[in-house]
Amino acid sequence: MAQQRYLAQVDMGKLVSLCKRRGLVFPGSEIYGGLGSTWDYGPLGVELKRNVKEAWWRATVHRRDDVVGLDAAILMHPRTWEASGHAEGFADPLMECTSCNQRFRTDDPRLAAPIKFGPQATLYEMPRRTCPDCGGVGTLTDPRMFNLMFKTFVGPVEDSASQAWLRPETAQGIFVNFASVLAATRLKLPFGIAQIGKSFRNEITPGNFIFRTREFEQMELEYFVKPGTDDQWLDYWLKERLNWYLGLGLRQENLRLREHGKDELAHYAKACSDVEYRFPWGWAELEGIANRTDFDLKRHSDFSGQDLSYFDQETGERYTPYVIEPSGGVDRTVLALLVDAYDEEPDPTGKEKEVRTVLRFHPDIAPVKVAVLPLSRNEKLVPTARQVYATVRQRFMAQYDDAQSIGRRYRRQDEVGTPLCVTVDFQTVEQDNQVTIRHRDTMAQVRVPIPELVPALEEQLAAMGQTSGPTA
Ligand code: GAP
Repeated sequence: MAQQRYLAQVDMGKLVSLCKRRGLVFPGSEIYGGLGSTWDYGPLGVELKRNVKEAWWRATVHRRDDVVGLDAAILMHPRTWEASGHAEGFADPLMECTSCNQRFRTDDPRLAAPIKFGPQATLYEMPRRTCPDCGGVGTLTDPRMFNLMFKTFVGPVEDSASQAWLRPETAQGIFVNFASVLAATRLKLPFGIAQIGKSFRNEITPGNFIFRTREFEQMELEYFVKPGTDDQWLDYWLKERLNWYLGLGLRQENLRLREHGKDELAHYAKACSDVEYRFPWGWAELEGIANRTDFDLKRHSDFSGQDLSYFDQETGERYTPYVIEPSGGVDRTVLALLVDAYDEEPDPTGKEKEVRTVLRFHPDIAPVKVAVLPLSRNEKLVPTARQVYATVRQRFMAQYDDAQSIGRRYRRQDEVGTPLCVTVDFQTVEQDNQVTIRHRDTMAQVRVPIPELVPALEEQLAAMGQTSGPTA
């Protein structure tokens, strides 16, 4: 059972401002006025992001026998993108719906009239059109020749021979390494290759904070299977991936699976479903889980001239494996966790006007697990508090804070979702060598002897993990 939530709807403005104030996420290049939709993760944001990536890596690689990891280069041979279809597929004049972000080629038959597109100024005077996908709710941007990939040059000469692209998905690094991984590991089908890394897309309409940006991080698994078993493996991964998000503590009522219609499928996909989260602006994709068939391995085999087939020793057959691809976004998961965790709790006594802002993170995800707080900066308290901090930080990501009143410091830790605070007071140093552990969600306080503190914290974090959602 998840902790009771007081807030019906999260105000994105408040969340973005909390993220900036408390060092979770800053606007990118802010001292220069910012650079459209780039965001920087601050001291606590980077911890949160690492926790997400580590939870994914643990579940996807470390706890499985059938998946290995990879960290391929962002810059890849330009032929990669010809083989994958990206070079050609993203180079059309496109119009984008400002509401649902669906892009339309200008010759799409669903658009009422053909649109001419060219350099002449007159063409830009054409009226905006409504989106055929959202039933006329959204408007379409002007058409632009648009290649989603960021262009760059490898080496000192900027000519077509040195042109390269920043990868728009990490997946292709996995496909081009398929044969090397197979040779190095001698894995047998079914098996997967997992990768976490940055991807880049020159999105026409980035927005909604870190939801859609031009530089983002993906967590991708390419799970290779025998053709004919692909449908059942797709079902398997849909369940696995939904459960992973539940395990991070995301509320069940805010998660769902949505199957793509045939007209929504990417050029390589036979079937696809999205894990969606209910964001304040509506349901939106966290992750796509696609059946990419043998499209990518076959195309890379054709374009490179290398054999990317698999020899099945049990049956004596040789074939190109199909691939099931769960592909999630780190930044979108971080945003869903922030939205899901954000709460404003009225003062239970009704005496104080101020509400308590709390991020109710699952303890595995919380950027700081334990804060050590001396009651004051009194010289009698500080040495013991410092000693307690030194012990606690050996085991947990911890923070020491002695600025301002103890009440304010509790509030500061609540705001960044620290599950437990440890307070050192005069009773600790003068009487009983015990400290107080204070809980973020219930604000309950218990005293424990210092020598028993670390196991007590472990136990209480585990217990909180049960009430913040299934364990990650
Ligand atoms: N390899 C398949 C692939 O890249 P995708 O649906 O285009 O599929 C997968 O992307 C995931 O990557 C998305 O579900 C989303 O979480 C993340 N993602 C894609 N574009 C993004 C963007 N512009 N900003 C942030 N995350 C993005």
